[in-house]
Amino acid sequence: MLKIGVIGCGAIGKEHIRRLTHLIPAAEVVACSDYFIETAEETAQLYGIKTVYKTGEELISAPEVEAIVITSVDATHASYVLAAVRMGKQVFCEKPLAQTADDCEKIIAKEVLQQRKLVQVGFMRRYDPGYAEMKRIINSGELGAPLMIHACHRNVSQGKGFTSEMGITNVAIHELDICRWLLGEEYKQAQVLKVRQSACSAKGYDNPQIVLLEGENGSRIDIELQVADAYGYDIQCQVVCEKGTINLPDPTSVIMRSNARCSVGLLTDWADRFIEAYDIELAEWVKNALAGRVAGPSSWDGYAACVVADVLNRSRGKNEFLPVVMMDKPELYK
Ligand SMILES: NC(=O)c1ccc[n+]([C@@H]2O[C@H](COP(=O)([O-])OP(=O)(O)OC[C@H]3O[C@@H](n4cnc5c(N)ncnc54)[C@H](O)[C@@H]3O)[C@@H](O)[C@H]2O)c1
Repeated sequence: MLKIGVIGCGAIGKEHIRRLTHLIPAAEVVACSDYFIETAEETAQLYGIKTVYKTGEELISAPEVEAIVITSVDATHASYVLAAVRMGKQVFCEKPLAQTADDCEKIIAKEVLQQRKLVQVGFMRRYDPGYAEMKRIINSGELGAPLMIHACHRNVSQGKGFTSEMGITNVAIHELDICRWLLGEEYKQAQVLKVRQSACSAKGYDNPQIVLLEGENGSRIDIELQVADAYGYDIQCQVVCEKGTINLPDPTSVIMRSNARCSVGLLTDWADRFIEAYDIELAEWVKNALAGRVAGPSSWDGYAACVVADVLNRSRGKNEFLPVVMMDKPELYK
């Protein structure tokens, strides 16, 4: 049994506590914490969690907590991950690993110092059966080399205080990871472009934006990013290979025929769209954490996504590609 402490009891924190409690027999959430103590207390009551800690730091050092799940807001991830790694505890951190590549480097340095991977990053799309099948086909070589990816992320709304930069570090970070994973290569250069802005979406941040990337083998990727006011939560991905194309399947949906129309419902939120991926991701994390290993997306993957996110945010308004420069990959992550 893996005894887990969860920091951050908001939307995804509660979702993960629910699946750890009800779907994963080898996991037990023994402690939780939130910036708002009442939120943590309500969550503890809802899921029968024994202990509420006032701070994330207290939870991390609590002796009964063997592994940590970090689901607090983005700006808090890096310091909690560092504290957990310092204690030598396994940690699952929701994306992004940090808000800058510099902060990811500190986490990598700490793991390298201990010669032990302890961190898994919440890039759950790698566990989505659709993306996994795309990866299998690419790796099989059946369609030849991948040449291009056309991807899009359309979403309905964002919380207060959202910025153009968060469009990259908080939202597009999923695409930055999944395209890199599908292609199996790092990025060479990147830029973000502002396009004609949606009149429904004048909220003080760029929407839509287009992300352009070049892989180190010359592949090209375009990502349309509409973070708010889209017609639903719609994630698309097409990989163009030498001998054919592969498309991410849409989630299963009933086809309705009525009033001389044929229609299919669309989802509106991430929790439903990737529910299966989250279930598999956390079950795998628990299994591997019990065996003392990290088999999912590592700190290196969190770092790689943050490096290109930094480059994209620096490129805004420049209308040119900027180079993506990464540190040498430590042996630990090879
Ligand atoms: N993998 C995914 O698809 C996915 C989906 C949703 C959210 N996320 C990530 O999960 C994290 C949480 O997102 P959310 O949608 O649940 O947000 P949320 O705002 O619903 O919840 C965040 C919680 O963190 C708490 N918090 C704030 N500061 C804190 C601190 N210093 N210490 C402890 N708790 C603190 C807040 O009070 C809140 O309860 C974000 O980093 C987000 O990027 C990932």
